[in-house]
Amino acid sequence: MTALSSTNEYTAISKDALVEDTKIDFDVFLKNDLSGRSRYILFCRGNQEFSADRKGELLNRNAHRLYISTKDTGKYLKYQEKNLRQIVEDYSKSSLQKSGALYQVAKNLAQDVMDDPKSGENIERASAWVDNTITHILQNENTFSSLFEVASHDYRTTTHSINVSVIGLLFGKYLSLKPNELECLGTGLLLHDIGKSTLSQDILNKQGDLTSEEFHEIKKHPKAGLDILEHNDRIDGLSLKVVIQHHENNDGTGYPYGIGGSDIHLFGHISRLVDAYDAMTSDRPYAAAMRPFATLAEIKKENKICFNEELLKEFICFLGLKNQRSKSMPT
Ligand SMILES: [Fe+2]
Ligand SMILES: [Fe+2]
Repeated sequence: MTALSSTNEYTAISKDALVEDTKIDFDVFLKNDLSGRSRYILFCRGNQEFSADRKGELLNRNAHRLYISTKDTGKYLKYQEKNLRQIVEDYSKSSLQKSGALYQVAKNLAQDVMDDPKSGENIERASAWVDNTITHILQNENTFSSLFEVASHDYRTTTHSINVSVIGLLFGKYLSLKPNELECLGTGLLLHDIGKSTLSQDILNKQGDLTSEEFHEIKKHPKAGLDILEHNDRIDGLSLKVVIQHHENNDGTGYPYGIGGSDIHLFGHISRLVDAYDAMTSDRPYAAAMRPFATLAEIKKENKICFNEELLKEFICFLGLKNQRSKSMPT
């Protein structure tokens, strides 16, 4: 796992977080616990190459955790992002370790996207992340359970966007979408709420019901997202369908345009479904998380109103598969 846990000055990282033959631009420490006191000993200085010999040394010392200076967390996350492809393609790493690295990188990246939604570089990073996630999902059978295991459910726009993208990609694989379609779907889903960057935090984090004026503001976010992304050459038109249609309902009662049925693209229907599923299974400012089964019951109730019926049946089968796998498959 690559989750970060920190004391004041030092942050623990997994021993598997470093990639062989890469340059590390932050100091790495080992921890020594002596008479109840922790001492951090420099193992690898920043600007050094992490060679096979150094990796061997770690194995010999049987070190399970490494530590970095907490002030280097940003550098560490950038390092992980830069080396994500090697991490994902490293056959010695478990599915859970790869999912952990993907999730960690995504959290940092999704925050950067929301902080600077117009940055072309951030959009490029988002699409590279989707590419790596697809590689992980297509290469490994048990990504289903490992990705669900590392996910958090706090319904911040960033975590929600990552979850929706991951669930959508897994569902897209289940639906046998082609890799280039998965790429458009995953990127669209990761960025689907980018328009919320234009809304006030007071509205986004409000506890309790929204006033009709506030809801009116919220309803602007799909179009605001389209405005941010539509002139970016890296964003495919299919990804834009996700951004603009993820709140359209099957019966035409959604927003922003109130289109329905076959006027909504398949990606619009998929995004409506996974967006609702993640929202309901996460802790929101105005409602506690629902259990997956209760969520499905709720989703079924809203079936004809919000969702494409055929797609919903597929989604229920897909989630059934997830539950079967998490019961039977090791990670
Ligand atoms: Fe949305
Ligand atoms: Fe959303």
